[in-house]
Amino acid sequence: MRIAVVGSGYVGLVAGACFADLGHEVVLVDNDVRKLAALKNGEVPIHEKFLPELFDRHRGHRLTFSDNLRESVRASVAIFIAVGTPPTERGEADLSYVESVAREITGAVDDYKVIIEKSTVPVYTSEWIRKIILRNGADPDSFDVASNPEFLREGTAVTDFLFPDRIVVGCDSERAAEVLREIYAPLTSGTYYRHPDAIPQPDRTSIPAPIIVTSTKSAELIKHASNAFLAMKISFINAVASMCESVGADVNQVCHGIGSDSRIGPRFLNPGIGYGGSCFPKDVLAFRAVARECGYDFRLLDEVMRINEDQRDRFVRKVRSALWTLRGKSLGVLGLAFKGGTDDIRESPAILILQLLLQEGCKITAYDPAAMERAQEVLHSTVKFANSSYEAAHGADALLILTEWEEFANLDLARLRDELKYPIVIDGRNLYDPEMMAANGFTYYSVGRAAARVETPPAAAMRNSAKKA
Ligand code: UDX
Repeated sequence: MRIAVVGSGYVGLVAGACFADLGHEVVLVDNDVRKLAALKNGEVPIHEKFLPELFDRHRGHRLTFSDNLRESVRASVAIFIAVGTPPTERGEADLSYVESVAREITGAVDDYKVIIEKSTVPVYTSEWIRKIILRNGADPDSFDVASNPEFLREGTAVTDFLFPDRIVVGCDSERAAEVLREIYAPLTSGTYYRHPDAIPQPDRTSIPAPIIVTSTKSAELIKHASNAFLAMKISFINAVASMCESVGADVNQVCHGIGSDSRIGPRFLNPGIGYGGSCFPKDVLAFRAVARECGYDFRLLDEVMRINEDQRDRFVRKVRSALWTLRGKSLGVLGLAFKGGTDDIRESPAILILQLLLQEGCKITAYDPAAMERAQEVLHSTVKFANSSYEAAHGADALLILTEWEEFANLDLARLRDELKYPIVIDGRNLYDPEMMAANGFTYYSVGRAAARVETPPAAAMRNSAKKA
């Protein structure tokens, strides 16, 4: 199948490379010529496992790049729109890029084409795309508009694409549904997985991938509702974690207890410093706005957002309660990315917490395995950057863990204790067992669990801090 993917952002890059791996002829279209030149040169602009391999495998063969939208559309049967839908000031999704692509492709709709929304868009967007294309003179029988939402997580986007829980295809005509079924046939029939070069199957996935065919409106709602539900699950467990802190219960035990109910399930029940990233904050806000526009007052979503913001303030209060005053305190910070496994700092709760602590007059040395370059662009010289976790901890009054990177869960605790001025760890991601931390000489605070304190004899503590000073 000849496919055009319009927009080389996160979704476009991953979808384009994966479609090529499924055997399709893909042209990735973008109007940013510098970005295209870098892609042609073999540069992959995002940190994503398996993506460089897929680019190496298909670049210049089944995966080409172009800034000529019309020509690319003319040469393709399926056109995926994967351009950005950033939030407006009122929280709605800004659909102007989607609209301008729809307008521009009209002249190239010369033969039957399926135009597919892949960007996260509000319900009714497909109807609008259809109207715009018709308004600009296309023959109504020459195209269909479909919705094929993406459920990719950053860091595992390639395997999420190739080993999905489900493929959702929203079409209002059987002809369009057939085109989409054919595109995904290697996954739904399982032929892709038998290929010797197939990307290896991750744990907890089942193959072949099921496909769910719905109306376009239902597919549009599935995407927003899925993200809002997951964000709600995180805010729910964060609220429960706050209750655990108030009554002295352990949120891990509570999660185990509730997550064992198969109707609830254990995933996405990790309490922490709240959700961030380019999707959840934007999508919950946009879904709230869509609901309002459709006449439904979805106040539950306001509460999901409020709990999420509150989680960051609670963490800062926790730092204050551990250190008494904050002005002039030196803090080591582990983690800047919005979650582990990515260099993305968009809406990162770690960065938002850092900014609150800087306002309080803290001095910060931060380390992140992948996100320091991007963080530097927003934090400038307000923060010092370290080359390792231990360097970030060196001489600090306390160490803060803000991103769930695997390497932060496997630190050499004796070395860490030696680096810190005071052995205090405030963990926003619950990476360690409190008792084990106390046994290793740390005072340890986490989320939804009682603080674990090590009682240091005053004389020894004074000797220790004198030595380190
Ligand atoms: C999310 C959705 O998972 C994905 O389906 C959609 O297509 C895009 O948005 P992503 O933003 O990459 O993916 O990250 P995800 O792994 O979902 O994490 C989002 C945020 O929630 C992160 O800040 C993460 O740290 C936080 N999180 C996640 C929790 O705090 N607790 C959890 O249990 C899970």
